[in-house]
Amino acid sequence: MPQKAVMAGPARSPLPLRAPLEQAFRERDRQTRPAYSQGMILVTAATGNVGRELVPQLLAAGQQVRAGTRHPQGASFPSGAHAVHFDFGDEASIRAAATGVQGVYLIVPETVDTETLKRALNVMKQAGVERVVLQSGFGAEKGDNPLGEAEDSVRASGLNWTVLRPNWFMQNYNQMFRRGIRDRHEFAEPAGEQRTSFIDTRDIAAAAVVVLTQPGHDGREYDLTGPHSIDRHAVAAALSSALGHPITYRPVDDDGFVDFLISTGESDEEEARAIASIYPPIRAGDTAPTTPDLHTLTGSAGHTIEAFAQHYRQDWLE
Ligand SMILES: NC(=O)c1ccc[n+]([C@@H]2O[C@H](COP(=O)([O-])OP(=O)(O)OC[C@H]3O[C@@H](n4cnc5c(N)ncnc54)[C@H](OP(=O)(O)O)[C@@H]3O)[C@@H](O)[C@H]2O)c1
Repeated sequence: MPQKAVMAGPARSPLPLRAPLEQAFRERDRQTRPAYSQGMILVTAATGNVGRELVPQLLAAGQQVRAGTRHPQGASFPSGAHAVHFDFGDEASIRAAATGVQGVYLIVPETVDTETLKRALNVMKQAGVERVVLQSGFGAEKGDNPLGEAEDSVRASGLNWTVLRPNWFMQNYNQMFRRGIRDRHEFAEPAGEQRTSFIDTRDIAAAAVVVLTQPGHDGREYDLTGPHSIDRHAVAAALSSALGHPITYRPVDDDGFVDFLISTGESDEEEARAIASIYPPIRAGDTAPTTPDLHTLTGSAGHTIEAFAQHYRQDWLE
């Protein structure tokens, strides 16, 4: 093996080619070995939509993973992941979970306010964390919204940072609309006839693996969308085809949406009103554009709504 021959006896070797060869090997190693691959990664909200996809994908990429949850005893993660107690409201839990960690994938639940997030980032920095990847939301950088504030907090944290801004998750249809689709064969949203470039959370996780494990993403922001911009009748058509019976999209106003989520048992009134309040950008068409960022990061345009519906079809049947 040429590398060994050169390395075996450097002091005795008269080879004039030694320096250029070593330089070439170093360059090859630099290109093939991700700079961040050695460090531990903490995934917050690891039991949630994106976290539960990201943990196994990081393990498959050979990373050491801590899976953060408020209930580590009850949580079930793939073998190889270390479940750790992580609660934004408990600084001791953040310090313990972040000590020895190089990178954090940061998911900020809607209940966590900006001051709490800033304190959490400070604790992570003190614990020795080097970089944080924030999961924000499509369009969050525009206007006043909590995820825009979260982005500002991350940029001001003194940590190396990357921001991912995924569009609306396809998985909302097998989470908050699951029972409506299963029991009533319909879903209702205050989205009018507007289109959205929905993204599959498996693709968000794939993008997260890249920015967490490979160099070159510090100070970068990525707007992540799925491959197509579709209206909700197209979502219903994909579900109909996967399930073998008609599913209907019913456009409603905010009150109709709240009624729908309450009557299907998916939400209480407060939560349903809070979700209704984030639909105006959808009605304005702001979530319609597609971007190339997912493909740039992962080499894939992402799952289609048809592939999503096929993959999760059992969720709407049982
Ligand atoms: N849904 C969408 O279409 C969409 C689109 C773009 C962006 N986003 C953003 O993505 C984020 C949500 O991501 P997600 O859907 O992957 O998560 P998720 O499914 O909403 O999961 C949230 C998780 O957070 C954990 N959690 C709740 N309170 C916590 C606290 N005080 N401290 C620590 N952990 C806590 C819970 O896990 P435990 O109970 O195990 O602790 C829960 O599983 C939000 O910021 C949302 O605005 C959502």
